[in-house]
Amino acid sequence: MRRVYGSAVAALHRPFMAGTCRVKPPQCLGEFAVDFTSPIGMGACGSVFAGRHLETNCEVAIKTMSRALLTAEAGGPQVEAGIKNESEVFERVLLDGGMPHPNVVEVMGFFDGQITEATEKGLKLCHDELADESVHYFVMELLEGGSLQDHLDQHGAMKEDEAQQLTRSLCEGLASLHEKGIVHRDVKPGNVLFRKTCGSTHGDIDLQGPKLIDFSHAVIVPAEGILTGESGTRGYVAPEILADKGYGPKCDVFSLGCVLHAMLTGGRLPKRHARVGMVTRLPSSVSPEARSFLDSMISCDAGLRPSAADALSEPWLQMLPSLAPTTGASDRLLTVF
Ligand SMILES: Nc1ncnc2c1ncn2[C@@H]1O[C@H](COP(=O)(O)OP(=O)(O)O)[C@@H](O)[C@H]1O
Ligand SMILES: [Mg+2]
Repeated sequence: MRRVYGSAVAALHRPFMAGTCRVKPPQCLGEFAVDFTSPIGMGACGSVFAGRHLETNCEVAIKTMSRALLTAEAGGPQVEAGIKNESEVFERVLLDGGMPHPNVVEVMGFFDGQITEATEKGLKLCHDELADESVHYFVMELLEGGSLQDHLDQHGAMKEDEAQQLTRSLCEGLASLHEKGIVHRDVKPGNVLFRKTCGSTHGDIDLQGPKLIDFSHAVIVPAEGILTGESGTRGYVAPEILADKGYGPKCDVFSLGCVLHAMLTGGRLPKRHARVGMVTRLPSSVSPEARSFLDSMISCDAGLRPSAADALSEPWLQMLPSLAPTTGASDRLLTVF
C-alpha cells in the first residue's frame, strides 16, 4: 500500500531553485547506494542509514520509517504520527524552495517505496508479518560529528562562551523554523547534530554549525495558531504542553532553555518538577547575563518567555561577536544537483 501524506507528490515533482542551480528532489531508492546492514542511528520512529546519491556522489542520511522497523510493540500510532509529521515538515521546507538554514538539517526529499527493495539490501525488519508495508524514506544531508548529547556525555559541562555560541546558533535555527510555521516540539541534545569538523575546545564540534534534526514530533502551526497534543521528551518539554491547554512555538524556546541548562551543567536532565531552582543550581562561574537569559527561556508562563527571534536580541546573545557565515554541506548539496 502506498501512502503519501498531504500534497507530497506535488512537492516531490516540483524542482526548485537554489541560487542559480536547479535542485531536483530524489524520488526513489534506486537513486542511492545505501548500506542497510548497519544503521548510523536508531530512534523511536525509525532507523537512519548512510547513503550516497549515485548521480552526484553526495553523501546523505536516509531515515526510514515503517511500522515493520519499530522495535516497540505498541509503536503503531507513534510511527504513523512520526511519518505524517516528518512528511509535512519536509514538504513545507521543499515547497519553500528548500532553502536551508545553516542550523537546521538540510532536507533533500522524501518518498515511499516497497520494503522489499531495502530488505534485499540487508534491511532488517522487526516485524516480519508487516513485510508488505510500505517504507518511508527521508533524505537529508549526512551529519557525522555526533550529537550534542554525545558531546555532553563525553566532555561534560561546557564553558559559558561555548554554550553561548551554540545557543545562539540553535536559536537562529529555531527562529527560521518558526518563521516557516514549523514547531519542532522535541528540541533536546540528542536532536542536535554536528558536521564532522574541528575547531572547538569542547571536542571536535563546530560551535557555529549545530543542526536541529528530527521532525517526527514537529507540526505546522494551524491557522488559528494554537497547537494541542502532548509531544516532546521528559526533562525538555514545556509546561504548557503538559498542561494540555494549547500552546505555540514558544514551547521550543523552553526546550532550548533546558538544552542550555544541560550545556552549562554537563547534561544532567533538569527534573520536571524542580525547574524553579534551575537557575540557582548553575555553577557559580556562570555570569548573571546567562542566568537571566536562561530564566527568561524557561519561564513557566509562555507569555513571559521570548520568542526565538526575540531571544536573539537578549543581552547575553548580543554579547557575542557576530558569527562568520557557516558554509559546508548545504552549499555542497545544493550546487551539485
Ligand atoms: N542527518 C543525519 N546525519 C547523521 N545521523 C543522523 C541524521 N539524522 C539522524 N541521525 C541519527 O539517527 C538518530 C535517530 O534520528 P532521529 O531523526 O532523531 O529519529 P527519531 O525520530 O526516531 O528520534 C539520531 O539520533 C542520529 O544519531
Ligand atoms: Mg530523535
